[in-house]
Amino acid sequence: MEKDRQQWSSHISFIIATVGSAVGLGNIWRFPYIMGENGGAIFLLTYLLLIGFLCVIPLCCELLIGKIHRTDTVSAFEKINPKFKWFGWLCILTVLLIPCFYFVVGGWIINYIWIFLSNNIPDNFTNYFSSFSSQTWVPCILTLFFLFLTAIFPYKGVNKGIEKANNIMMPMFVIMLFIMALYAISLPGAKEGLTFMFKPDFSQFDKQMILTALGQALFTLSIGMGAVLTYGSYMREDTNIVKSAYTLIICDTLIAITAGVMIFPIVFSFGVTPSAGATLAFISLPEMFAQLPFPTFFGFIFFVLLFFAAITSGISMLETAIASFINQFKMTREKATIITSSIIAIISIPATLSFSILGDFKLLGKTFFDFLDYATSNILLPFNTLLICLIAGWCIKSLWKDNFGETFFGYAFNILLKFIAPIVLIFVLISGI
Ligand code: PHE
Repeated sequence: MEKDRQQWSSHISFIIATVGSAVGLGNIWRFPYIMGENGGAIFLLTYLLLIGFLCVIPLCCELLIGKIHRTDTVSAFEKINPKFKWFGWLCILTVLLIPCFYFVVGGWIINYIWIFLSNNIPDNFTNYFSSFSSQTWVPCILTLFFLFLTAIFPYKGVNKGIEKANNIMMPMFVIMLFIMALYAISLPGAKEGLTFMFKPDFSQFDKQMILTALGQALFTLSIGMGAVLTYGSYMREDTNIVKSAYTLIICDTLIAITAGVMIFPIVFSFGVTPSAGATLAFISLPEMFAQLPFPTFFGFIFFVLLFFAAITSGISMLETAIASFINQFKMTREKATIITSSIIAIISIPATLSFSILGDFKLLGKTFFDFLDYATSNILLPFNTLLICLIAGWCIKSLWKDNFGETFFGYAFNILLKFIAPIVLIFVLISGI
């Protein structure tokens, strides 16, 4: 099955697909509210430094491992050393658990697209959201529907499915995001919103904020679960790793900042606190859209762009698991897609129901939905990233020398990879737990 392994048809398709994987709910929904809770511009500055100097290291490692071994996550770690095969499976476990809560939000997005499209805008979104998410059937069906829509693309293959989906959806996403951002800066609260975003308040600088910024950076770059590795394994021979890594980082960050430029002016125009948290996208923002001119149009565009962001990320989650199932169990892509989707379907139902009948079922004091988010973002992602750095730094002979040579970048990469990144990640892990 490895013989007919597919490749991106061009370098630009590879970049678009990796940006599609990285840009997701993490950028549009999570980044602005986390920035709101952590002092705006000072958070942005810390985040930029972390993502540019530290997170780029594991990102390059995943791309390199993918490019060198040209295979799925489990087989790649097995090839490095058969002792590490279990770690490949841990990455697959992580990438199977993330969609189990991520796709629940995907289901909500579909519902919101529908209410704006059909012009059935509720009077009070707080009541609406809590009564909608606490239903039993509708959210479950929508979660499964979102899963189904996502699975179509990896089912069709790398070129005919994944590449095509990204090449169509990502440009549309960017256009919609710019329309929304331009609209937002024409609102009366624009100046206040932009000042909040770009003027640092140094008093907010503390350890917790740094850790939050790092966790967000790992999540948004899809590092630590083999997704980048898998997309990297379809890379063309002549692709430059460092350039690709920085292109990805720059695109992902610009999109997250543009999402902030879209959201903060709206928030300040209505005097809502920017730290309204996870409910910002599903309660505060739609409520504001409803009061602005052309509510149906802008509400619809906002949720469609959120949908594109979520589905292109979802595709990469599924593909990571599917690629490993194909190779490890010698099955067809179609069968692997069905099995992967079935596993996610089974686990995502209780996650959907944690807003209704399973609301009292708690793990570590959290609902099942929150537990999945916490276990993956705070524990599995930093832990896996730590292991990727340790394996790439200490168990692959002269990874840095072979790929970057004895240059300044090569030496810096080596020191960051072997010592600095692992130490920082251990701190993140300890404080996350
Ligand atoms: N990076 C995506 C986001 O920001 C999330 C993601 C996680 C995507 C894991 C792929 C794999 O939303």
